[in-house]
Amino acid sequence: MYGLIHAALRDLILEDHGVETWNQVVLQSGVPSNSFLTMRSYSDETTMALVDAASQVLMLPTNDCLQVFGHYWVARFAPKEYGGLLDHTGGSLIEFFQNLDALHDRLSTSFTEFKPPSFKVKINTANSAVIKYVSSRKGLTPFVIGIITGIGERFDTAIHIDAVDSSNSDQGEVSDILISMASNG
Ligand code: HEM
Repeated sequence: MYGLIHAALRDLILEDHGVETWNQVVLQSGVPSNSFLTMRSYSDETTMALVDAASQVLMLPTNDCLQVFGHYWVARFAPKEYGGLLDHTGGSLIEFFQNLDALHDRLSTSFTEFKPPSFKVKINTANSAVIKYVSSRKGLTPFVIGIITGIGERFDTAIHIDAVDSSNSDQGEVSDILISMASNG
């Protein structure tokens, strides 16, 4: 994946755990020190080696690590450089979810080699929806869950994940994520 994703993981660990922990993660991952150029695309193995190393050093299961990372990505990292894009992605929570493909489409002129995920929203009731996540990769559904809860915070809404139904194939991963939403006021 693009080095932007690696840079975000690095910033999360630097900000929340410090430079010594980050140095341990890099050492443990075995990835070259030039794997963090934001606009360069790296192999997914490099990305997953960093996530696995973070999970070992922080002693957190990989899925928990991905979830924390997803939350950090949308709540603290993306707003720094891409705040305008996030602001234009939707005026409501549901609209934001419906526009996730458009968000990644807008980035495709800068990230020419990227393979973004795709999302579809099925509204059940005013407070409940299914978000279908389709990826050419496997194992990133917990990252999506972290992002979804972070997006809820942008709209002052607590999001509860009621059920996750994932399936893997050679093509990647598809997950139906059933959410319920409660406005914080
Ligand atoms: C403005 C903010 C955002 C930027 C700049 C951005 C950019 C990117 C980039 C560069 C990648 C790497 C793809 C590759 O290298 O092939 C990526 C992947 C991904 N993005 Fe975004 N993204 C943003 C917001 C979001 C949001 C709000 C979601 C919501 C769920 C999301 C979900 C994902 C997921 C799940 C992946 C992993 C790839 C996969 O699932 O196959 N992104 N994004």
